[in-house]
Amino acid sequence: MYHVISCDQFSRDDLESIFRLTDAVRSQPEAFRTALAGKIVATVFYEPSTRTRLSFEAAVLRLGGNVISTENAKEMSSAIKGESLPDTIRVIAGYCDAIVLRHPDIRSAEVAAQVSRVPIINAGSGSGEHPTQAVLDVYTIYQYKKKIDGLTIAVLGDLLFGRTVHSLVKLLALYRDITIYGLSRDVLSLPEDYIAYLATKGVRYIPCRSLREIPPEVDVLYHTRTQTERFANTDLQIEEFIIDKESLDYFSPHTILMHPLPRRNEIAPDVDGDKRAVFFAQSHYGMYVRMSLLHSILAGR
Ligand code: NCD
Repeated sequence: MYHVISCDQFSRDDLESIFRLTDAVRSQPEAFRTALAGKIVATVFYEPSTRTRLSFEAAVLRLGGNVISTENAKEMSSAIKGESLPDTIRVIAGYCDAIVLRHPDIRSAEVAAQVSRVPIINAGSGSGEHPTQAVLDVYTIYQYKKKIDGLTIAVLGDLLFGRTVHSLVKLLALYRDITIYGLSRDVLSLPEDYIAYLATKGVRYIPCRSLREIPPEVDVLYHTRTQTERFANTDLQIEEFIIDKESLDYFSPHTILMHPLPRRNEIAPDVDGDKRAVFFAQSHYGMYVRMSLLHSILAGR
């Protein structure tokens, strides 16, 4: 693996080897403590982040590497002076061994990869993709369900602008006998090109307009935040599908509730103590998955 741009690039075997390495990193952290010794990773974020940036940085540090960072590249880097993304990347690539990039443009990671002499890791490209999130999402599902083939997954919330959903459905399409329910308001439906892609991969995709259209025995509920920043100049009001104790109890005791976080009111805090609510475990697994990805990309290079 060199760049991580899109979930299109992963095979099932790739995921399996990333997951095996993630298990090793979790069970024998001491064996990885110096894996990135002498390496510098730059985290370059033009959009807000808590988990993605800090889990990447913690991952680098836990592997013995060093981090250079611009957490608000939109205002605090030379972007504010009018520097283009390619120029910024060319320069930063001269200082480090890999760049973790979050940027509002859908094609940003691709554009960066074209000019970078070090690996680019896409940490969110506008409303496009968020591949490392999807890898940690599938890893989390695997931890709880012990398989991916044959699962039924409901994705909820903002399926139009939600990059985590876009990347997740692409990874799920690598597996057999997958059914995906998509619950959103009409204006936030999954884009047609994703629906067509799922059809070509033999995934059943079933759009829904209410929680009760999702079968109670669904394996995974994957909720997301309405990406209001993507339609800030409209007066569109979105009524959320709220998962609280009562609505969660419609689902099976085996259904797990995931969310990439941050959540707002779409998941009520009264479910946090429910053993089906796994979103904090999911974000914790994220750090180990990112250790495994960084190790695959950088160790020994
Ligand atoms: C998501 C993102 O930035 O796309 N967060 C994350 O990386 N865990 C989801 C969101 O912002 O709603």
